[in-house]
Amino acid sequence: MLTIDQVELRGKRVFIREDFNVPMAGTAISDDTRIQAALPTIRYALDHGAAIILGSHLGRPKSGFDPALSLAPVAAHLADLLGRPVPLVSDWQSGVALQPGACVLLENLRFNAGEKKDDEALAKAYAALCDVYVNDAFATAHRAESSTHGIARFAKIACAGPLLQREVEALQRALKAPARPLIAIVGGAKVSTKLEVLQTLVTKVDRLIIGGGIANTFLKAAGHAIGKSLCEDDLVPVARALLEAHGAKIPLPTDVVCAHELSATAVTRVVPVTAVGADEAIFDIGPASSANLASTLKGAGTLVWNGPVGVFEQAPFASGTKAIATAVAESPAFSIAGGGDTIAAINQFGIADRISYISTAGGAFLEFLEGKELPAIAILNQRGETTA
Ligand code: 3PG
Repeated sequence: MLTIDQVELRGKRVFIREDFNVPMAGTAISDDTRIQAALPTIRYALDHGAAIILGSHLGRPKSGFDPALSLAPVAAHLADLLGRPVPLVSDWQSGVALQPGACVLLENLRFNAGEKKDDEALAKAYAALCDVYVNDAFATAHRAESSTHGIARFAKIACAGPLLQREVEALQRALKAPARPLIAIVGGAKVSTKLEVLQTLVTKVDRLIIGGGIANTFLKAAGHAIGKSLCEDDLVPVARALLEAHGAKIPLPTDVVCAHELSATAVTRVVPVTAVGADEAIFDIGPASSANLASTLKGAGTLVWNGPVGVFEQAPFASGTKAIATAVAESPAFSIAGGGDTIAAINQFGIADRISYISTAGGAFLEFLEGKELPAIAILNQRGETTA
């Protein structure tokens, strides 16, 4: 894959695909992590004399323009962060007037008919805007859309930006040739959203630690009564099959935090997994399980973390995820974490600077862990092969 540092940018029109799909509260950006992560690449291209066309999607517009999903707040925020104007351009089809050193942001690319379907004509129209296409949006690399995939087929030069490159390198380091033991922590609410990840990872890792609602389905599969806990009954047989084939690698919690309700004032009970009441639900792993897992994590060579092990947003159920987060932070292992909830937990417990690599991606991170080929990466690799 060609990388931006191998390409002459001076005097060139450079289209950078970003992932500015940031959480919004009305017109306010509630978390600008993805915008901050994009800045070094934008500054790099500006410093190298490029004229820059930034492009991104925001949300999932149904059809055409939706004012609630305009990138106008992102353009304004970028202008503040870069200390230069960043005009938002909606009418780009007939060309974008740009001086070297200028930087514009195209309006939400998903407002364009055909974007989601990787429409070829649209991809060619994007490609015609630029001399160089840079994909720096690893978080959208699992989507084959006109701005993530099609444009890379038709642009004169198509290369990877440093953010995308770093994400791929970190994930490859964790999964392709990891320092052993390789331990994965997969939490979150539902087995159904993580099934493929669990099935793939269990064949690669030395330990697969499961937590959150996912663990409930496995506890039920192991024969425990789990009361009113969140559980996907239809996936109990799949969980049982995974335990039968790989049980030695999958340590289940031995104690749990239960309550009758999920609230900040809930009355909780710490009980062995064999003693969950019929009218109780499990909302976190217990202290003995946390201590066991923390000591397992200490010995890791590589750690991959996706998903909290309890409802950490509520104080009574935060201890398990805090213990995991602390153990990951204290471990000398190469650690990589990704996913919206995981990043929220990392920020809540203040350990971001002690994780080796935090991915900006959600779905793309999971699909990479599933071992899938990501279309936006695949096309850059293909283009790189033909350039070489
Ligand atoms: C993400 O937030 O995971 C990416 O921006 C992709 O968004 P999408 O799921 O709407 O394609």
